[in-house]
Formats: sequence, structure tokens, C-alpha cells
Amino acid sequence: MITIICAFGTRPEAIKLAPVIRLLKKRRSIFRTVVLATAQHREMLDQVLDLFRIRPDYDLNLMTLAQSLTQITTRSLEGIEAVLRKEQPDAVLVQGDTTTALSGALAAFYLKIKVGHVEAGLRTDDKYAPFPEEINRRLITRLADFHFAPTEWAKTRLIREGVSRASVSVTGNTVIDALLSIKDKVDRIRPDIPKETLSALRRRDIVLVTGHRRESFGTGFENICRAIRAAADACPRSVFVYPVHLNPNVVRPVHRILGGRERIHLLNPLPYASFIWLMKRATIVLTDSGGVQEEAPTLGKPVLVMRDATERPEGIDAGNARLVGTDKDRIAKNLIELLSDARARRAMARVHNPYGDGRAGQRIVGILERVLTGRGSRRRPHLR
Ligand code: UD1
Ligand code: UDP
Repeated sequence: MITIICAFGTRPEAIKLAPVIRLLKKRRSIFRTVVLATAQHREMLDQVLDLFRIRPDYDLNLMTLAQSLTQITTRSLEGIEAVLRKEQPDAVLVQGDTTTALSGALAAFYLKIKVGHVEAGLRTDDKYAPFPEEINRRLITRLADFHFAPTEWAKTRLIREGVSRASVSVTGNTVIDALLSIKDKVDRIRPDIPKETLSALRRRDIVLVTGHRRESFGTGFENICRAIRAAADACPRSVFVYPVHLNPNVVRPVHRILGGRERIHLLNPLPYASFIWLMKRATIVLTDSGGVQEEAPTLGKPVLVMRDATERPEGIDAGNARLVGTDKDRIAKNLIELLSDARARRAMARVHNPYGDGRAGQRIVGILERVLTGRGSRRRPHLR
């Protein structure tokens, strides 16, 4: 029996590991799957655990208010090490570029346990953007044994950095598996969205906003909020819906600058199904989120990305997404132009899946079976 620990701590890691956990658990004659949540996030993580019915075997419950990077790194490293020593797994799976993912990979490496990295090879080449994620994922690459690259571009980046070809597979991004698993079901739910917001959506151009990047804290966030205010004032048919990330560095400026405005609805983070319900109805998505950039093309939504560089160039190349930075005037100009130009929106709204086909989890589990047992299909199950 192969023991695999799936370690995660934040909302997006849970969304993106949920499809893999489900498939690993289905193959219980081969895998013993241990679910380890550091709970680097609490409320936002619990929303995902509830939806996908994931019950962690270990919940380290680490989150504290306004935690520092060092705090979360040291506490998760120690917490994960204790679980690894007890469970003696054959491999640890981590996802993406969070502090939990780095700690999981490092704790495993210290105990000479193999590491699988889901969503490997994303890069901006800017040490401080996104911060600290660009360095987290580079470090995880050095620690990992199996690299599950979501796209060919990500694979190329890994190979260029000297990662051995045999250890890299292009699987697609598991976020598309998660999205496709609920995309149609969300039309049958009653979204967990306040009544006033639901009625404000009628006959309006809906701008769905999310933002939380650490490198934008301070001036960057103030610019973003002022741009939203300017665009809302300039476009009377628009309504802005902004489920605000719970980080106090986000909550404070967002409520100070955008609170109490009629067509700007500041909500608590939405459960994943309600968020996707809303994205399906959005006219434009304005975001700095990684996961949201990946989901929007599958739903055919134009995305304005509030960053100077993205590690997800596929959406930009395909014309679905546009980089608009964190400068107030540039964000406002792009928003106003796009809200006023249905033809430009249509050109960006082509439905396609540069990030995967919904079978990334299957590929990852197939590869794990092959590399950890020596059995399973010899054919490399690459995404084409
Ligand atoms: C983290 C990840 C980031 C990821 C993001 C997804 C790191 C360094 N950052 O950033 O890569 O893109 O999650 O959202 O790993 N908080 C709550 N409740 C929650 C979640 C957060 O109150 O459910 C508040 C707490 O005060 C917490 C703070 O937000 O201290 C920051 O959380 P943290 O996980 O350190 O950073 P994020 O900005 O969420
Ligand atoms: N999301 C959600 N509720 C929200 C906002 C986002 O469920 O209110 C989902 C979104 O669909 C995506 C993921 O959370 O799958 C993105 O998480 P986040 O933006 O926090 O992190 P990132 O992807 O930037 O690491």
C-alpha cells in the first residue's frame, strides 16, 4: 500500500487538490490517502472543505490574525514534520506556491520523503512579484521529485532550469477539473449572496472583482480601489461585486475607499459554488488571483489582470486576459473602455481551456501509481 499525504493550507490549494484527493481515495486498493490541512486559512478553507466534503485527517489550525510569513513558515514546517514522522508516507503532494506548499515540500525533503508538485513551472522571473510566491515555487521545484506542469509553457520553464525531463509531466491544471465538476450544478443552487446584491445584478453590467496580492498592499491596493470607484462613477449601468479576501491588509483599504457606495457591493468571501455562479453572470472579471485567471477563459469571461507580470501567459496569448497593472488610471481606463465596448468584450470572451481539459487529476494519479508502484500504464499520459 502506498501512503500519500496531500498537504494544503489555503482556499486555492484545497480547490485544486480536491479532484486529486477524490481520485486517490477512489483507488484505495493502491493508495492510503492522508489529508493534512495546515489551515493557514481558516474560514476560506472551511468553505472549500464543506463543498468538496473533504475531512482532513490532520488539521493543524495554524491561522492567526495578520500572520507574518516567518510565523506561518516555521509553524507549518514544525506541524507538518510531526505528521510526516508519524505517518511515514511514500510521498507528499503539495500544490502551487503558498507557504504551506513550501513547508510541506521542505519538511518532506528533510525526511527524504518524495515530493510531488502540482502546478509546477509557473514563473514571472520577478523575485518580488508575486511575493513570496515566485520564490516559493522555485524552491519547491528544487525540492520536488515529480513535477506536474499544467501547460507546455510551464514544462518548458522547468526543463530550461535543468529539471530532468523524465520527472516532468504536462497534466493540465486541476482547477479546471474542480470547475468543470461544479460548473453546471451551480445553476441549480441558491447562491449564498445577499438579496440586495442579487437584485442589483439585474440588467446591469457586472464586474466581478477579487484581489489579495501581498506585493500590492499599501499604495497598490489604494490605486486599485480608486480605479474601481472611478469606473463605477463613469459607467452608470455597471455594478461591481467584490467578495473581499479576509486579509486585514485587504479588508481595511477596500472598506475605507469603497464602502457605502450604491453600485459597489463588498461581500465576504463566497463559497466556491456561489463564486462560480457569479462568475458565470459577470460581464468582466477584474482580478489579481491566479485561480480566477485560469477559470475565466473556461467560462468565456474577459479578464483584466491587476498585475505587471503574470505567470499565466496562456490567457493573455489567447486574448482572454489583459494585463492592466496596479496604476489607478490604467485600470480605470481599461475598465471603462471594456464596459463601453461590447465588441471588444466579445473578442475577449471566447470560451476555451488553455489551462486544462478537466482530466488533470486522473493524469496525476496515474503517474503517481506508475512511479510509486512501478505498475500502471507505461504510456506517458500527457495532456495534448
Ligand atoms: C495566501 C497565500 C497566497 C495565496 C492566497 C490565496 C502565502 C504566503 N500566501 O495569501 O499565495 O494566493 O493565500 O488566497 O502562502 N485570513 C482570515 N481568514 C481566512 C484566510 C485569511 O482571517 O480564512 C486573514 C488572517 O488575518 C491571515 C491573513 O488573512 O493572517 C493572511 O493569510 P495568509 O494565508 O498568510 O496570506 P494570504 O494573503 O491569504
Ligand atoms: N474563490 C472563491 N470565493 C471567492 C473568491 C475566489 O471560491 O470569494 C475561488 C476562485 O474561484 C479560485 C480561488 O478561489 O478558484 C482563487 O483563490 P485566491 O484568489 O484566494 O488565490 P490564488 O488563486 O490567487 O492563489
